[in-house]
Amino acid sequence: MTALTPDPAPEPASVPAAGHAAVAQHPSPAALDVTGLTAGYGGPPIVEDVSIRAHRGAITAIVGPNGAGKSTLLKAIAGVIRPKAGSVRVEDHDVTGLAADKLVRRGIAYVPQVANVFPQLSVHENLEMGGYIRHGRGVKERAAELYTLFPDLEAARSRRAETLSGGQRTMLAMARGLMVDPAVLILDEPSAGLSPKFQSTVWERIEQVRSTNVAVLVVEQNTRETLRHAAWAYVLVLGRNRLEGPGRELLHDDEVVRLYVGVLTK
Ligand SMILES: Nc1ncnc2c1ncn2[C@@H]1O[C@H](COP(=O)(O)OP(=O)(O)OP(=O)(O)O)[C@@H](O)[C@H]1O
Ligand SMILES: [Mg+2]
Repeated sequence: MTALTPDPAPEPASVPAAGHAAVAQHPSPAALDVTGLTAGYGGPPIVEDVSIRAHRGAITAIVGPNGAGKSTLLKAIAGVIRPKAGSVRVEDHDVTGLAADKLVRRGIAYVPQVANVFPQLSVHENLEMGGYIRHGRGVKERAAELYTLFPDLEAARSRRAETLSGGQRTMLAMARGLMVDPAVLILDEPSAGLSPKFQSTVWERIEQVRSTNVAVLVVEQNTRETLRHAAWAYVLVLGRNRLEGPGRELLHDDEVVRLYVGVLTK
């Protein structure tokens, strides 16, 4: 566990929980390395000097209260808004300030919380749209791989997205993001608004995606479920890094409990 106030974070010294141990030994650079990121909407910064890393084959979580700036941070990483300061690197390449469409080609797939599928299009057409940077057979082959990962979607491939359940729609949004075979899949509150049963299914799928060697960066409000799955989690408060550590350690951390009792809902 690393308390981040008021000094910059030293490298965490503790040996992380299962899953992260492999990550810690990983010789290659982080799939996503965000350093000192500051961003907002033209007024005072909403996120300030935020640093996070996500590794392939691991789930990394960002948790924190409403309005902490979690979605804003994701937008700045994904090129939806332009960072004012700091850097974003993907697999050791500097991609800071690139627009969203360019970042897709550099390995970042971003799934916003809402408006993440085309409701009028079928499941399969949504996947084709997601694979727009692929050519020829590449689209069909990748869609076939994703149907293996998301069997529910294969059964529904001809259905319009608007007829899917909330859980299925979340799966479709994830699969659509994965069409480009990204290094990093960024998910903003994928289980929000879903019943507990669908939330578990979404987490199962996220774990499967992780196991295909994707770096999954997931934002959620501070649920126990998120911390259980996260090899590494960052707590964001008032737009700044507050704490970080293996998800399961944060679950038992006094400060996290003190700050979020009543927010940890599940
Ligand atoms: N498009 C926007 N223009 C101006 N301000 C915005 C915009 N979107 C968000 N904000 C402000 O940025 C702050 C952080 O919002 P953000 O959505 O990033 O928080 P969050 O941590 O994702 O919250 P939640 O848990 O509710 O999703 C809030 O004060 C919000 O009002
Ligand atoms: Mg949000």
